[in-house]
Formats: sequence, structure tokens, C-alpha cells
Amino acid sequence: MAKTIAILGVTGNQGGSVASTFLSLGWQVRGITRSATSPAALDLKARGITLIEADQDDSASLVKAFSGAHVIFAMTDFWAAFSESYGKLSKVSDRAAGEHAREIEVTRGKKLVDAAAKVLADEAVLERFVLSTLPGFKDVSGGKYTFAYHFDGKADISAYLKGKETLWAKSSLLNMGFYMTNLVKSGTMVGFTKKYVMRKPGKNTAIHPFVNTRDTGAFVELLVNSPPCQDLLGVSEMGSYNTFMELLTEVSGKSCISQEISVEDADKALPGGLGREVGESTATSAEFGWGKHLVMPKDLNPDIKLTSLRKYIEGENWTDLFNKM
Ligand SMILES: NC(=O)c1ccc[n+]([C@@H]2O[C@H](COP(=O)([O-])OP(=O)(O)OC[C@H]3O[C@@H](n4cnc5c(N)ncnc54)[C@H](OP(=O)(O)O)[C@@H]3O)[C@@H](O)[C@H]2O)c1
Repeated sequence: MAKTIAILGVTGNQGGSVASTFLSLGWQVRGITRSATSPAALDLKARGITLIEADQDDSASLVKAFSGAHVIFAMTDFWAAFSESYGKLSKVSDRAAGEHAREIEVTRGKKLVDAAAKVLADEAVLERFVLSTLPGFKDVSGGKYTFAYHFDGKADISAYLKGKETLWAKSSLLNMGFYMTNLVKSGTMVGFTKKYVMRKPGKNTAIHPFVNTRDTGAFVELLVNSPPCQDLLGVSEMGSYNTFMELLTEVSGKSCISQEISVEDADKALPGGLGREVGESTATSAEFGWGKHLVMPKDLNPDIKLTSLRKYIEGENWTDLFNKM
């Protein structure tokens, strides 16, 4: 009988990719969502995914949703809590919205770890728990950068998971790199403030891990087929913003460049905490990397097929972004 994977965040970028991969592998795919009647959920249902409603704020619903699964993929969403509170809390202090969202994310993350631990203890069916996470950039930067709350909160959840020894022995961590889609989705907000100039902290030649979220399923498949306790960097291609902009110039015919700015400039462009949250993430990555402890996908499978920056940029629709300039 086919094994079951339960996917928390199935209607999102990461979970959607995991669902597609495991459907194509012939698994029973159970998608977890707060609303099984949303358009995104109905689309998944039509593709053969069984839907179950659960909320990360409701532990009992998580236990029910995880029950009987051989593999669980789970993520937490920092940005919804940040965005919802930003208008109000950005007026309180530069840290208020980040601290608020981190607290919500960590509380939810601990609840889902507890639910997975309970299901494992009660049923002994679970074979692999894969948690989407990020390294703590406060630690990685030696305390220099302290505003990357969406990294530091996820690291707290990973540490909590590692403290649950029985569950951790069946778990692995997936640290997703910078989404390749960040520029097209929020370029005018965080970068493309002048015509075709990508402004961000960190040297233009610094190497970052870029990820196509459509590769998430390939990373999870890799972690299911590898020994547990991996700390994997979810990277499709390592590259610099210079390379990104050179490829975009070639593909679009527009002259696109990257420009280094300071974290203070990022803060001035997006005051109230957002500029620092995003800017310090890029600055940490550029100056310190993501941590030498992380394993690369090709270390686990030299033949893994992932999306190159060129392939992503060639396949993306850039019209709306350029029209906004
Ligand atoms: N942008 C980047 O470069 C980057 C890089 C690495 C990591 N990340 C992290 O990626 C995360 C977002 O992942 P994504 O892009 O896959 O998400 P997404 O596309 O924004 O979708 C969010 C998902 O979270 C689910 N969700 C939210 N709140 C929930 C709750 N209370 N209970 C149950 N499900 C809930 C939603 O499900 P329903 O609405 O169906 O319930 C939805 O499937 C963020 O935490 C971000 O920090 C981003």
C-alpha cells in the first residue's frame, strides 16, 4: 500500500511543491489547510490530494491531521503575522513587529513539533519529520545582526525539535535559501526602487543560496531517502546578485544592475523594521554565509536535478515588474 505524506502549508509555495513531487511518486498525499474550500485547496483536491482542515494554533487539530502519516512536512509562516501587525507595531518601535511575528511563529512551531512527537509516541508509524526552517542569523553573524527575526525564530523551533530526542531521531531540517521569486514578487518594495537597479546590503559579488520553491519537493524526497538528522541547505543554485542581474539583462534586454547599500539605507527606504529585517538577512548571508554545518543537496545525491538561475529567469514573467518602473 502507498505510504502517506501529510503536508502542512500545502496551499503555499513550499508545500505545493512537496505535494506535486510525492503525487508523482505515487504516495497518498494529505494536504493540511485551514480551509478545505478555498480555491487553492479545491484545486489540490481536483489533483487527487486528500484535504484535512487544521490550524497551527489548535494542537488537537494538528494531531488529527498528522495521525497515520509515514512522513510529515511542516513549515511556519512568519510573514503573515508580520504584515498583519506592521501598520500598528512599526509605529511602536523598529523591533515590535519582528518580535511579535517571531513569538507567534515560535509558538506555532513548537505546537507542531509537539503534535508530531505525540503522534510518533502514540502510533510509531512516523518514519520522517521534515521541518522547513532557517539558521539563526544572530548566531551566524556573531551577534552583529539582530533584526532577522524570521531566521532566528525558525532556529528556535529547530532547537526545540532537537530537544525532543525520539522525534529528532526521525527528523531532518530543510533550510530554504532566498527565493528566486523575491525580486519579481516584491522587487519594487525591497530592491528595484530605481529603474532596473537592485539595491541591497552586501557586496554585489557575494554568493547567496537561491532557491526555486518548486524544488522543495526534490529536497524533501532527498531527506526521506537519506539518514535522519540532516541539516540541509535548500539551494537550487549558489550565485551572486551580479550574476542574477547579468542573466536578467540577457533575458529581458533591459540593463539591470545590482547596487550595494548599507543596512541603514535599507532602513531608511523601509522604516519601522521591514528594511532592517530584510536588509540584515542579505547582509548576514553576504558577510557570514548560512553556517558551515549545513549539508548541500549534491552531498546527499550528486545527481539531484534542480533549477538553475538561468532556467528560472528565462521561465519567469518579468513584464509586470518592469511595467511598474
Ligand atoms: N521569501 C524567501 O526568500 C524565504 C526564504 C526562506 C524561507 N522563507 C519562509 O517561508 C515561509 C513561507 O513559506 P511558503 O512561501 O511556502 O508559504 P506561503 O506560500 O506564503 O503560504 C503560507 C502557507 O502557510 C499555511 N498557514 C499559514 N498559517 C497557518 C496556520 N495558522 N495553520 C495552518 N496553516 C497555516 C497556509 O495554509 P492555508 O492558508 O491553506 O491554511 C499556506 O499554505 C515563511 O516563514 C518565510 O520566512 C522565505
